[in-house]
Order: sequence, then structure tokens, then C-alpha cells
Amino acid sequence: MTQTAPHQSDAAEQQAREQAVTDEVAASFATSTSDRYREVMTSLVRHLHGFARDVRLTHAEWETAVDFLTRTGQISNGRRQEFIMLSDVLGLSMLTVGINAPASRGATESTVFGPFFVDDAPEVQLGGDIAQGAKGTPCWVSGQVRSTDGTPLAGVRIDAWEADEDGLYDTQYEGNRTAGRGWQVTGEHGEYRFWSVLPTHYPIPDDGPVGELIAAAGRDSMRPAHIHFKVTAPGHRTLITHVFVAGDEYLRNDAAFGVKDSLIAEFTEHQGGTEPDGTTRQWRQVEFDLVLAREEQP
Ligand code: BEZ
Ligand code: FE
Repeated sequence: MTQTAPHQSDAAEQQAREQAVTDEVAASFATSTSDRYREVMTSLVRHLHGFARDVRLTHAEWETAVDFLTRTGQISNGRRQEFIMLSDVLGLSMLTVGINAPASRGATESTVFGPFFVDDAPEVQLGGDIAQGAKGTPCWVSGQVRSTDGTPLAGVRIDAWEADEDGLYDTQYEGNRTAGRGWQVTGEHGEYRFWSVLPTHYPIPDDGPVGELIAAAGRDSMRPAHIHFKVTAPGHRTLITHVFVAGDEYLRNDAAFGVKDSLIAEFTEHQGGTEPDGTTRQWRQVEFDLVLAREEQP
């Protein structure tokens, strides 16, 4: 008797045993209380099991993954969201953006939300300053919020947040200082305008599990300079996006895969007055319109 036949049947038996586990678990969701829950969980089980079979997941690797996810949860809090960052660096955020915000003619493109949004940012009047002590070259940010048909969207909420010139968000400093973030309501022609600081590129936080992942992959951890926006208007898809600084050296190498060419804008340089000590003040300006797609009619 040759060795080949028993080996082949061993392999087939092993495959059948593995498939039976997957089928049994998938079937356990048949009684789900909603069709969508059943669909999502059954697919999740099939893909997750498929992944484990594909890489022949070892017990040690399974333990490493459990430890990684445990620590991802432990380091997250109201001011740090390591799970969002994990989703960002795995490209899941941009894939979800692509699925849910399909390119709509004339609308501003969407990009990642990121882990640094906070709910309790201050309201800043039109023309006010969201820097509130964030360090950096002053930057005047303005534009119009409108619908894809050109209608100005007056009285809608626009949130903005960004890192300072050291590449840090306020939430990355000790204490509870709020700086480099705020929201305002657009004026009667849909206009928004505020002072802030010129954003700079920055490394994503490397002191947690996501930093370990980036290091183990030998990847760059930089995000190109940007300001985040979230715009909410009745009857329209909420827009979550950035404006990126033209010329930034990391535009083609974003750790979160979030750059779209249409979101890159010039931050024009201006010379201001002269300080008593003879230094010349400098400031920047960017104009960036935010165009929202209408919500699909049912
Ligand atoms: C951000 O843009 O704030 C961000 C996105 C992904 C990872 C880290 C930070
Ligand atoms: Fe950011």
C-alpha cells in the first residue's frame, strides 16, 4: 500500500472537519432577531474562519491577537480611540467611506474620521479663532457650504479640528485643554470662516498597539498635514473630510490611506506686519468649499 492515498484522505477529512465548525457556527445565527444581523454575522464568521484556515493560524498567534485587541481596548478612552486608529491603518475606514459615500457628482469627497474628534468642542462665531492656544502660524480658513445643485446651505453646523505645529492634537497633551478645534454655524450664504493654525504632518501615536503594528510592518507612520471637517445639514449626507496642504511630503504616503487629490488645496503665504523686535509676522490662508450630496430619496 502506498502512503499517498491515506494522506489525501487525511487532508480531505481535516478540511471537512474544519468546514463543519464553520457551518455549525454560521448556522447558529439562523435565529437572529434581524435579517441584517444574520447576514452580517454569518458573513463575518465565514470570512474570519476562512482567514484562520488561509494562514493556518497557530494557538500562539491567536493568543497574540487576543492580547493585542485587549490592549487596544484598554488604551482607548474618551480622548483616545485606538480602535478607530486600527481601522484607519488597516484601510477599513477608507473602504467603509468608499462603500457609504460613493462619489456623487460635484460633491466634496469624504475621507477618514480619525480618532481625535471630541463631542464637546466649543462653538466659535464666524471669523473667530479655533486655535485657542494651539501653537503654529496663524491660518485663515474660509469657504462656502452648499448643496451639489449650488444652493448655499445656511445655518448648518461645521466642525473643524486639527493638530498644532508640533503635530499633536489637544487630546494628546496632559490635562483637559481644548485647542485647535471648534464648530460654527454657516452664515446666510453658506459661508464659514475662522482663524486656526497652519497644520503640519504628524506621526500617528506610536505608544500603543497600533504603533506596534506599524513598526512590525516596517511602515511609515506619518499623516500629511490636514484640517478635519464634519458638516451636517438636513436632507444631505453628512460630510466627513479633510483639506490637505498642497506640497506636503507625505501626500503619497499617508498611514491612513486618506488622501484624495480633490482634497488638496494651496495654503497661500502672506506677510503680515512687523513686530517691535523686527521679525515679520507671517500668516496663511486657505479657501475650501464644502459641497454636500443630497440624501437619496427612498
Ligand atoms: C487623524 O487624522 O487624526 C488620524 C487618522 C488616522 C490615524 C491617526 C490619526
Ligand atoms: Fe488628523
